[in-house]
Amino acid sequence: MEENCLKDENSKVLIIKDIGKLYGFDKNLNFFKRDNCTIIIKDGKIFDIIELKDYDSRLRAENYEKQLKDHSKTSVEEISVVNAKGQVVFPSFVDPHTHLIYYGDRASEFFMRNQRIPYMEIAERGGGIASSVRQTRGASDEQLLLSLLKRLKALSSFGVSHVEIKSGYGLTKKDELRLLRIINKAKVYTNMIIQPTCMAAHDFPPEAKNDPKLKEKWISEIEKEILPSVKDENLSEFFDIFSEEKVYNLKQTERLCKAALDLGFKLKLHVDEITNIGACQLAVKLKARSVEHLLKITEDEILLLKESETIPVLLPGTAFYLNEPYAPYELFEKNGVEVALASDSNPGSNCTENMLLIYTIAAIKLHMPLDVILKAATVTASKASDFIKPSGIIDKGECANLIIAEIPHLEYLFYHYGDNPIKEVIIEGKKAFVNIDM
Ligand code: NIG
Ligand code: FE
Repeated sequence: MEENCLKDENSKVLIIKDIGKLYGFDKNLNFFKRDNCTIIIKDGKIFDIIELKDYDSRLRAENYEKQLKDHSKTSVEEISVVNAKGQVVFPSFVDPHTHLIYYGDRASEFFMRNQRIPYMEIAERGGGIASSVRQTRGASDEQLLLSLLKRLKALSSFGVSHVEIKSGYGLTKKDELRLLRIINKAKVYTNMIIQPTCMAAHDFPPEAKNDPKLKEKWISEIEKEILPSVKDENLSEFFDIFSEEKVYNLKQTERLCKAALDLGFKLKLHVDEITNIGACQLAVKLKARSVEHLLKITEDEILLLKESETIPVLLPGTAFYLNEPYAPYELFEKNGVEVALASDSNPGSNCTENMLLIYTIAAIKLHMPLDVILKAATVTASKASDFIKPSGIIDKGECANLIIAEIPHLEYLFYHYGDNPIKEVIIEGKKAFVNIDM
């Protein structure tokens, strides 16, 4: 039996012993903290949680190995043991909003913005999303896949097991389909759980930006060609749109969302990032799965969300990076509306894969308490992108999506910012991997 490392990726049984502190949510979604325990994982699910940390004597005395073998027809050799050595274990993170597939960078824009040139003005001067579109179109499939895998590896090192990835830096039919195919191909190189989203409506193609006829042509191409092809090839279940005064107006948003719904897509919408044009009400009316950003959301709209199935997703890293006022989390809290947290990792408005930093910003700037951050990062984030094997609940029969970190207690993870004490990420009972040696 192997200790201290997860050698056998295909092990059917994994035992994490000597956990100093275990944090998570029980089946009723109550936050808990337990001391000194061992988790038994079988076929990717939590089989048992034992209160005592002394695995060797306790498990043998209770004939646990035999029970496990009988239950899973597993030989002892197929049981892996990780010694957590008194460290802290908690659910792995879910990132339900990223733009991880792109090529190149926009570092010069970062300095322009910090010299007080607004994000939208940079976009109007031909930079912004259009700049990443040009760089992405010019990259080969291999370049795009490798850069995506590197970002996934970074994200997983910060504890992320589940990730939504939007297309949207192609903005031609050929390039949007290419990006979605590469996102799907990435699944071969990692056991991270990936949810691709078609975001052909991330912006208008740069060549159509100032021409109403070409804009109309692009909208109709999304409706009549791109969405049906995405569906035919089964490249994505979700459609997303940047609903914004100077990008897709309310009418265009409604038209494209309805076309997507008619084809069976679920909706995620970029809403109230720069201006509030009423897109949140529209999203609720269209029963969108999520509304994301929400920097300019009103209390009335939060009350609408409360009565709906639509999940609000906050991206405090973007407000930080753009130096904009944060989403009004206190109004969500006051009205009892739970939110999810996401990175929005992208080359323009938030260039990072450091998920821990996002949660630290949520603690400082949104004033979110520890258990609320953990729920927003796991249970609610899983709902926002419909991950069917979610993270967050640590109880018998639930998926074993876990993190082991070398910290004295969970508060420390967000308090000591900029550090990365994560030692192991476990996805459905297996060590997380991203293979970049293609
Ligand atoms: O979520 N709002 C649109 N999309 C990204 C930014 C993309 C970019 O600037 O490249 C966002 O902030
Ligand atoms: Fe975004």
